[in-house]
Amino acid sequence: MNVLICYFSGTGNTELVAQMYARCLSNSCTVTLHDMTSSALPSLEGVDWVGIGYPIHAFNQPALVRNFVKSLPLNSTHKVFIFKVSGEPLALNNASSTLIWRILRKKHTQLLGEIHLLMPYNIMFKHGDRLAKKMYLTTSALVPINVEQLITGSAPTIRASLLAHLMRVLCSIELRGCRLIGKSFHTTSACTGCGKCARNCPLDNITITAKKEVKFNNKCNLCMRCVCNCPVDAINIGLLNHWRVNGTYNYARLLSDDTITTNFTTADTERYYSSYVTYFDYADSTITQYINNLHS
Ligand SMILES: Cc1cc2nc3c(=O)[nH]c(=O)nc-3n(C[C@H](O)[C@H](O)[C@H](O)COP(=O)(O)O)c2cc1C
Repeated sequence: MNVLICYFSGTGNTELVAQMYARCLSNSCTVTLHDMTSSALPSLEGVDWVGIGYPIHAFNQPALVRNFVKSLPLNSTHKVFIFKVSGEPLALNNASSTLIWRILRKKHTQLLGEIHLLMPYNIMFKHGDRLAKKMYLTTSALVPINVEQLITGSAPTIRASLLAHLMRVLCSIELRGCRLIGKSFHTTSACTGCGKCARNCPLDNITITAKKEVKFNNKCNLCMRCVCNCPVDAINIGLLNHWRVNGTYNYARLLSDDTITTNFTTADTERYYSSYVTYFDYADSTITQYINNLHS
């Protein structure tokens, strides 16, 4: 079986999850990974399954993900699964794929399932080491379980409440406005004009002038790659600047450091952990049950 995994990732989290899927599926399938920001559309010749991965943005999917799915020549012979990644286990995120599912249904594609996986925030605030490590470990344990469910035809889908749909619609205003918000990005006096932001922008939206001034154009998707990776934290994100996060997560360091523990208890004081307790309790019990089944 041939599987094509297409993903968009602003700051690397969804890309890591896409790689986890590729590793697990490659035990039984031929897998190709495709970054949605590549200039050419991937070939669907001989492809049986298509995986679509994206980071949730404002309870929706980034517009470029929707446009990519629209332009993929999918048909009734293809089976599609979605993995969406976000910083918070809120049920309000549940309706984020609505527009993609609508497009897929129009193309008569067969739907295999959808899963929401946690990876830390790249906007609003930076998760602490323990929580970031816990999210990474939980996601990397849930992916093989989801792959098995996909293969056995028992993968879950996600149901969204009316409130989640309402949030999705309300917040799509922010998404529609992201080009405008992107135009309000500017650099501070700390900018050295190194050009890293321009080189890395997935939409080629940043230019450096001859005077080494950084210009943010009008195609921004608010992915935060420029902001998180700026070596001198010199990008002001205009209207959203109080939510600016600088620096990505170094998972290799988190994983290799045994002093960063992830055995949370409900009495734990780690910032933000309390709002994730239900999610991790459920995830931990799913993982334990899966491991027990493997050994029985
Ligand atoms: C503009 C923007 C909006 C976001 N909105 C949400 C959201 O509605 N819900 C949520 O849980 N996370 C939200 N996030 C957080 C990302 O989904 C999360 O940090 C994810 O891990 C980023 O993945 P990436 O590194 O592949 O881009 C948002 C991030 C950005 C940049």
